[in-house]
Parts: sequence; C-alpha cells; structure tokens
Amino acid sequence: MKVEIYKDKNEGGQAAFNIIKSGIENGAKVLGLATGSTPITLYNAMTSSDLDFSNMTSVNLDEYVGLPFDNDQSYHYFMKDNLFNKKPFKMSYVPDGMAADINAAAKEYDQIIEDNPIDVQILGIGRNGHIGFNEPGSAFDSLTHEVDLTQSTIDANARFFANEDDVPHKAISMGIGSILKSKKILLLAYGEDKADAIKATIEGPVTTDVPASALQNHDDVIFILDEAAASKLS
Ligand code: F6R
Repeated sequence: MKVEIYKDKNEGGQAAFNIIKSGIENGAKVLGLATGSTPITLYNAMTSSDLDFSNMTSVNLDEYVGLPFDNDQSYHYFMKDNLFNKKPFKMSYVPDGMAADINAAAKEYDQIIEDNPIDVQILGIGRNGHIGFNEPGSAFDSLTHEVDLTQSTIDANARFFANEDDVPHKAISMGIGSILKSKKILLLAYGEDKADAIKATIEGPVTTDVPASALQNHDDVIFILDEAAASKLS
C-alpha cells in the first residue's frame, strides 16, 4: 500500500494520469473507471493528452437502475460527457441498469470482467468509506450485484435531480470482490470531507464497516490524496 499526497486535486489527477500512462506503456489494456466528482481532474488530464485509448477497453464500476442512458444523471451519460466523447476506447462497458433482469445483467458483467481483467482500477471513496456502490456491511467477496441505495445516498443524490421522486433507489455495482481482482488499484480522494474515511481505510482495522479497508488486503494499491484528505493520517 502506497500513499501519495499532493497539493490539490489537479496535481492528484495529473499523478494518476502519469501512473496510467506508464501502465499503458508497459502493456496495460483494460482500465476500470469511476464516476463522481473525484476522477474529473484525471479525465481532464486524459482528454487533454495525446494518449490514444482506441486500442483499450474500459470497465465502469456502477450505474443506477432504471435511469435511461441519455438521462444526464446516468453514469453512461457522465462517462460519454467527461471522457468517451473526446477519447473513445475500443470497447467501453458500463453496467446495464436498464436490463429487464438485473441479476442476469450482473452475471454477464462478471463475465465481462473475467474476459477483460482490469489492469488499473480507478476508485473514489464515499464519506462512509464506500467504494463503487458497496456501502458499509457489504461482503468483501461480493461480485457484481444489485444494490438498494441507503437513504443517506438517496438524499445526497437528490440535489442532482429536478424531483426527489426521480432519484433512483437502486443501482448495479461491481462488488468488492470484483474490485479486488484488479491488478493495480488507484484510490483518489480530495477534500476534508474524505479525511475520516481515508484515515479509517488506511490506518483502521480491516472491517466491512469501512468497505475501502478491504484494499489493505490487495498488494498493489496507491492512494492519491490531496493534503486535506490526508490531514487526519498519523
Ligand atoms: C462512482 C462510485 C462512488 C464514488 C464515491 C465518491 O462510480 O462508485 O463510489 O467514487 O461516491 O464520489 P465523489 O467523487 O463524487 O465524491
């Protein structure tokens, strides 16, 4: 486990970009990607670079259930808007939250991960230590599955939707077990509101109460933090 601390999210995004770039130079073919505000500086560094991703595959962590792909809150839309429209990949997979049978879609997604082993997985972290949509209590060996969003996640997401009733209550997410299969994991965290989760993840016990603490069991994890997110580390 390595911890790198940068001045701010721009330097953090650049550092993550440099790691991905050298990974690609050394043969990485599959990137695991995240949504949310955290990876945006990384995606900006990717889109403003001259790197070509058209021979690569991407596999995203999660998606809401029941939100059409053209809804601007869907993760399909987010990824196109922030990355794929400017830097197309050969193949980009995002879980299918519109599938008639979500359990079958989750099984298919695990097969996709099996067929496309993730070389470098990008993660953000929730204030409660969640990774993907794996909230506290999630099993460390879980694979892709349907998740009931907690009320606090639904409330936090409500600000992005015109009506509270439009906020999805379910998601489909790679499990912690799926994430841990990645060869290398970069967890990015910026801002003071992530400091407690980062301390618990890196310095606390390995416990399902803090889903990201499972990363202590992985042998190639780099935490890319800004000073604020690292401020509670001893
Ligand atoms: C996103 C994801 C989530 C976020 C986390 C942090 O695909 O899986 O776990 O990484 O909620 O979100 P932000 O970056 O918005 O603080």
